[in-house]
Amino acid sequence: LQTHLLAAIAAAAGLDALEAVRVEALGKQGRVTALLKTLGALSPEERQARGPAIHQLRETVTAAIAARKAVLEQVALDAQLASEALDMTLPVDLPAGGTVHPVSQVMDELAEIFADLGFAVATGPEIEDDWHNFGALNIPDTHPARAMQDTFYVAQAEGAETAPLVLRTHTSPVQIRTMVEVARRQNGAGAPIRIIAPGRVYRSDWDATHTPMFHQVEGLVIDKGITLGHLKWTLETFLKAFFERDDVVLRLRPSYFPFTEPSAEVDVGFSVEKGKRVVGGDQGWMEVLGSGMVHPRVIANCGLDPDEWQGFAFGCGIDRLAMLKYGIDDLRPMFEADSRWLHHYGFAA
Ligand code: PHE
Repeated sequence: LQTHLLAAIAAAAGLDALEAVRVEALGKQGRVTALLKTLGALSPEERQARGPAIHQLRETVTAAIAARKAVLEQVALDAQLASEALDMTLPVDLPAGGTVHPVSQVMDELAEIFADLGFAVATGPEIEDDWHNFGALNIPDTHPARAMQDTFYVAQAEGAETAPLVLRTHTSPVQIRTMVEVARRQNGAGAPIRIIAPGRVYRSDWDATHTPMFHQVEGLVIDKGITLGHLKWTLETFLKAFFERDDVVLRLRPSYFPFTEPSAEVDVGFSVEKGKRVVGGDQGWMEVLGSGMVHPRVIANCGLDPDEWQGFAFGCGIDRLAMLKYGIDDLRPMFEADSRWLHHYGFAA
């Protein structure tokens, strides 16, 4: 019997099988238990003769089961540890990190460049009233910029008495808000003012170089004795710093804006490198911004005395600047949040 039981214990492949052997040997109906029970019916002499061997059998089997159990438990523990192991040396997939959008990067650069020139950053609402976006800027009711195909009008309640609201079509209303505020605060004493106003603007337009929402930066300087020379120096300094080249040349072309007089469209010289236009040199010209001396009527509209205060203003497309600086051909993907595009131009982490 002992040989049979020890062989069964050694053969038990798992804890369940071992428990079955234990029940077979030592359980209430077990074979060793049955032998022990027979001792009670024997005479003392017989008991002395057979007892020690039966007790010895029980101890041997009990010890063998305990030893086997310890082995099987260790095996089970090792298996569990192996299955739960973490390899701390495996490379980790980091979640994709966000980066600053190219347009926001350019806005930050602009703020830094102009801060060095003493300009503060001003802001205004994207939903503007007709007066700030057009009227105060000397844009007559008949001006084509007001036509429905360009301007997004904000729906207003039937019979509303308030002036029409628009999505601002340019950042120039921030000129008005800034001058009005300064004139109000200083009782008409006004200037000096040196601000840039970067932000979103809206026009109903859609092609490779126009999106219905785009970005402009407005510049405004109001002081005494300001001339076109100040304007040109400021723009030249700004564009050289922005494009990080000293060979940036400007061309001021006479133009017309209702809110500046005289007005000038500013072209920047470009050259062709690796088949792409880059700013710098003078192989050709491309337009980058509109500018001019602030119209005396605009200054007066804001409550300042135009005989005392003069200045210049300019407005520049930020997205266009970003396209030129980073060699981007199509404006539309700039606002489509496709991470492949961001990776392609090196804007993603
Ligand atoms: N607001 C003009 C535009 O959007 C640009 C501009 C700003 C021109 C300031 C002159 C002075 O086209």
